[in-house]
This record gives sequence, C-alpha cells and structure tokens, in this order.
Amino acid sequence: MERFFKVDPWNIIEEGFNRESNEIAESIFSIGNGYMGQRGNFEESYSGKSLQGSYMAGIYYPDKTRVGWWKNGYPEYFAKVLNSTNWIGMEIKIDGDILDISKCEVRDFKRILNMKEGYLYRSFTARPQNGKEVKVESKRFVSIVNKEIGAISYTITPVNFSGAISISPYLDGDIENKDSNYDEKFWDEVSKKAVSGEASLTIKTKKLDFYLCSSVKYDIFKDNVKLRYEAEKVEKEKFVGNIVTLKAGENEEITIVKYVSNVTSRDFKVEELNAVGKELLERAYAKGFDKLINEQAAAWEEKWKQSDIIIEGDTAAQQAIRFNIFQLNQTYTGEDDRLNIGPKGFTGEKYGGSTYWDTEAYCIPFYLATADEKIAKNLLIYRYKQLDKAKENARNLGYKKGALYPMVTMNGEECHNEWEITFEEIHRNGAIAYAIYNYVNYTGDKAYLSEYGLDVLVEISRFWEERVNFSEAKNKYVMLGVTGPNEYENNVNNNWYTNRIACWTMEYTIEVIDYLKNNEPDKYRKLATKLGIQQEEIEKWQDIIKNMYYPVEEKLGIFLQQEGYMDKEQILVKDLDKENLPLNQKWSWDRILRSCFIKQADALQGLYFLQHKYDLATIERNFDFYEPRTVHESSLSPCIHAILASKLGKKDKAYELYLRTSRLDLDNYNNDTEDGCHITSMAGTWLSIVEGFGGVKVINGKLTVSPFIPQQWKAFSFKITFRDSLLNINITNENIIITNEGKEIDLLVKDKDYTVKEGDKISV
Ligand code: BGC
Repeated sequence: MERFFKVDPWNIIEEGFNRESNEIAESIFSIGNGYMGQRGNFEESYSGKSLQGSYMAGIYYPDKTRVGWWKNGYPEYFAKVLNSTNWIGMEIKIDGDILDISKCEVRDFKRILNMKEGYLYRSFTARPQNGKEVKVESKRFVSIVNKEIGAISYTITPVNFSGAISISPYLDGDIENKDSNYDEKFWDEVSKKAVSGEASLTIKTKKLDFYLCSSVKYDIFKDNVKLRYEAEKVEKEKFVGNIVTLKAGENEEITIVKYVSNVTSRDFKVEELNAVGKELLERAYAKGFDKLINEQAAAWEEKWKQSDIIIEGDTAAQQAIRFNIFQLNQTYTGEDDRLNIGPKGFTGEKYGGSTYWDTEAYCIPFYLATADEKIAKNLLIYRYKQLDKAKENARNLGYKKGALYPMVTMNGEECHNEWEITFEEIHRNGAIAYAIYNYVNYTGDKAYLSEYGLDVLVEISRFWEERVNFSEAKNKYVMLGVTGPNEYENNVNNNWYTNRIACWTMEYTIEVIDYLKNNEPDKYRKLATKLGIQQEEIEKWQDIIKNMYYPVEEKLGIFLQQEGYMDKEQILVKDLDKENLPLNQKWSWDRILRSCFIKQADALQGLYFLQHKYDLATIERNFDFYEPRTVHESSLSPCIHAILASKLGKKDKAYELYLRTSRLDLDNYNNDTEDGCHITSMAGTWLSIVEGFGGVKVINGKLTVSPFIPQQWKAFSFKITFRDSLLNINITNENIIITNEGKEIDLLVKDKDYTVKEGDKISV
C-alpha cells in the first residue's frame, strides 16, 4: 500500500511535490462549508495534471443525456454539479515569467490540511528556468461562519534575487466541467467590473438560470506593511482581475490577502446579487484575515466538541476518522433543506453531485448522532418535498399509483440513465422509508410521522403494492426484474433484500397508521382523507406481507441473494488469484454478471437494517456465507459487514473490514481518489466505529451500548447526542466510562441498566 500523506492526529500532511499524484492530493485537500467547496488546486498557474474544481451547493446543470440505445422512460438529462468561477486564482510573474511549478524545480513542498481549525496551508520553494528562486506560503479557507466568504493569504519571497514580482488576482468564470457530455461550457457571462483593488463577475448557467456573483477585494503587504498601489485592470470574456507589479528585494516578503464572496440566485434576487455580494465582502474585509481565521477555528472547535472520535494507540486510524468526520461536516450542514449530500461532496464531479440512497442508508445516522436533530430532519424533508416528483416519476414509468423516488437526483427528478439501475434499482425507495423509522426511533420525534412521514410511507407502500405480482406457480407474491444493492447482478427475480425492505415498508406504514389512529386521531382522520387511505389497500398490504416469496437455501439456513443464486458456480474471493481484483477493472461485465461475486452488502444490508428482527444465529449463518463472496467494490459495503462482524463477536474480521473503509481515500485504496473523495462512505466508517465497535443501538427508545475494543487500539472514545443528552463514551480495555453533558438519561450498557445524571459519569 502506498502512503501519500504523513500520519498525524489532526493534520493531513503532504511532504514533497509529487506531480503524478497531484489530483489525488487535490481531492484530499478539498475544503468546503456546506454551501461551497473547493478542491486543493493551486492559486498560481499550473500546467501539470490537475482537476480544477470550485463548486456551489445546489447549482447544477441538466446536461443532455448521452446514451447508446435510448429506452423509453429515460430522463432527458443528467444533472451535473457545476464547476464554477475559479475564485482562488492569482497569476504570479517573476521578472515577466509566469510561475508554474510544474515547470520548476521544487523544494520543501508541503501541503497541510488543518482539520482542527479548518484551513489549508501550502509552502514550497521553486526555482524556475530563469534561476530566480521564490519561496511561497499560502493559507486559505472557506468560512463556516460566513458561508459566502473565502479568503487566502499568499506570500511570495524572492530567495536569490531582487526583481519585479507581479501578482494578478482574478475571478475566472470561463471554466468547464470535465464530465460535460457534449464538451459544452455551461456558463454565460452576465456582467463584470474591475477597478483597482476590487473586481466582480456575474455568470449565469445556460439552462435553469442559476446566477453566481463573485466579488473580490485584496490588500498587498511588503514585510507586513500594507502597500498603496495602483493596479492595472483586466477584463476578458467571463474573466476579471487586476495586475499589480512591485519591486521586491531579496528576502522581502510580498503578501496578498484576497477576500472573496460568492452569492447566488438560489438565495437572493438576481438584481440584488451585486449589492449583497459587495456588502458581505466588505464585512469580511473589515474583519480582516486574522479575525476571520480565528472565528473559523472557534467554529470548528464547536463542531469537534459534538463529533470528535479519539483513538488511542493508532495514529493512522485517528487521522482517518477525523478526516472522515471533517469531510462530512464540510459537505452538509443542514442549514438549507434544498440541499443533500453527493457521493463526492465538494471534492469532484463524479456522480454529478446528486443525491443517492447513500444519504438515507449511510449518512443519516452520522448527522443524527453528531448534530442537532433538525439537521437529519432536513435530509428527510428534502425527500418529503420531492414526493410529488416521485409520484410523477412512477406515473412516467407506467405505475397507476405510488411514488418511486429517483436513483439519482438534484431536484426530485430522475437524472440517471442505465435501465438496470434507473428502472430496476428500486430498493432506494425502501431506504427512504427506513430513514423515517431510523429518525423517529433515534430522536423520539413521533410528531414527524403525522407532519411529514406518513405521506411518504403511504406512497412508497403503494408503489411496492403495484410493483409485486401474484405468482400462480408459487402461490406467493413475487418481485421480478430488479437490481438489488449488489449491482453485479441485474434484472434478477426476488432479490431477498428488495422483497424484504418492500414488505418491511408496508409493515411499518401500517404500524404508523395504527399509532396515529390511536394517538393523534384528529390528525390521522385529516391525513387519511388527504392521502385517500383505504381499508382495502391496508388489507392488500397485509396480504402481501403474509404471502411474499423469499428465496432461501434451506440446507445452509440462509436467505438467498436472489432466486437461482445457488445455480452459480460457487467460488470464494480468497480463492481468486489477486490479479483478478478489482473485478470491475479486470473482468468483462458479462463475466461479472455470471459470477457469484457480490459487489456490496445486499442480503446483509437487509440484516443490518432489520437486525432487531433476526436472531444472532440467523445473522451469523448469512454473514459466514456472504462475506467470503463479497468483493466490496462499492466503498459503501465494508462498513455494513464490519458492523455485523462486531455484533457477532468476530473482532478481527470487523477490524479488517473497518480498515478498508477508514483510509479509503487517504491511501487511495480503490485507486480512484483523484475523481474526488468517497464522502458518503465516510459516514460508513463512522458507523463502523460507533455502531460496530461501540455497539450503539436504540432499542425501544433506549440507547444501548455494548462495545469492544480492537486489539490494535489502546482506547477509543466518541461523542454522541441522543435526544437531550450529550454523551462522551470512552472505552478502554479495563472499563467503559460514560460522561453526560446533557440531560439525565437511562442507558443499557452491556445489558445492564444505568442512569446517568446531567454532568455525571458512570464507569462500567
Ligand atoms: C454503489 C451505489 C451507490 C453509488 C453512489 C455505486 O457504486 O453501488 O450503491 O449509491 O455508487 O455512491
């Protein structure tokens, strides 16, 4: 395994300039604040390998679908998160020559992501061909306090010469997406203006009319003394900037501090954008870089207070979990219920920045336990608001009733086009229903059910009702032609997970109806009328639940991945020559489909979600059968297996699986970090520690903790918010210490009841 970054508990450190892995580092060094994000690109010009990326949450482009054979039902477009105005850029010239470190001899190169305080640092010494060496040091951040603001402090020092340094801070809207389907650019210019010391640029998307107005203001210092200067203005198509040329003596430090605001028509009226952008910029400028970065550190300190995990005795694991928590907190803050979590967050273009089932299946528990409950609630409301679109989607596909949420979406419309996924990977509907259960079970917020939950549950249940059919041959209900979470099998009949989650949704919907009938009868009556709930349909759901067909292998006592799975040649991953892995890069798709190998947790995903309904022996039989056949070629997979292995007391296996998720991006485990980081699977790593090693679950409204400590660690502790309590759970080989900084709580620890008063602690 190649280790790209130095191991450190709070920082990601790259030492030495590695041109080949620069795109990997750019993904890792991404910074964001839930509103905008920026890859770890260089401020100065760079002609080497790089993926430029500045993203604004919720700003996307409906790129015309590109597909081999069109199938009726495909959406017209694929939504793409947009690479937008490059606001970090500044061209540097040394005696007239552009500084481009891909063409220089580079010494002492360092990039540090400071996760504790939330900024990116970089330094190096470069010797261009003209021999005039410069030392560069930069710091930048996007503010989590003033979300529209980004700031950079960039210092350049001549090392062995005196000469002219020119600095051109700019805003460049003439950028493209790497994944544009037809090599089009997606932005048009609206307006621009440059004066000495300031500039602004407004661009607009060619479709959907999203406006982005970026404004910049900067100061220049020589040896920390602010300079007066008169800058040359630059205005080109979709580009504004300034050029300031200075004489610098050997070892004189020239610093530019660049402040930028980015505001969009998602939040403000188009005609207000310039004024609002300017006002926010002036406020940040008046505070100054030091105050802004101190506020940033203080705000991150607060985030860490709620979400940190401390691992003693394993710095690599410590760094990894902090990196994952840091990225999750950078990606989604829950302030805006129109937003969601793209699988790559703000770290790359892949997956279009859109919403997948990843949010409900993996991310919600993280936000539930580490942030205010309204944050996870906003993720649920996002789907609630898209219910009409999900119903429309079902109608478009020919269903008479119900809702089918899209596999991939930006605004509630499906925007993915592979028939075996778009039309068949319908299990996503189950995860969306499950997230409602998960939220209510964790928070106890039953009011959510009548307010938002039931509408979604009823429409999803109606979809399942129509999607199954009664097989005369089997005398059972069946579900044909689906793709389960395991995408290495398509168009299968009776995928155990999908059949199970469908019936579970109907069961839960009936349970919620009964609860509301008994506890909120007035509200229920109104809801039943609004949703047109009929007794016959409830009976139909009951009939389906009772008579659903589940494929099983009697002899082994396991649930079958899908009907016919045992007909496949049964080989174990360990018996495959290593050269075959990863299958998705080494084998033809045909060979993958015919094989027994499983891409990601599928039957086991179901047993994870519904673990309260199955005994340990059943879970164990299935785990022992499926784990050796699973190649975990989705980053979402090992965490689920790690949690189940923990539950089954298979400690070494649990730790081995955990390792596959925890440093996935830092060590480029899947050889694809250059596309961006696996943000949604980072939540899975958190799950492996908290639900896996920590054994945290909510059973009948009570938090239960049943931890073990991996032998590679000395101790670990994590913070979770549960209802009105904030718990710090510390596990060592000797004991479990639980401190409660919130209200009194009843807990079940290792099967025994405890009460922990406010401000108190227990030792078990
Ligand atoms: C996985 C899906 C997941 C998607 C986005 C795919 O590789 O198989 O389950 O939703 O990636 O993360």
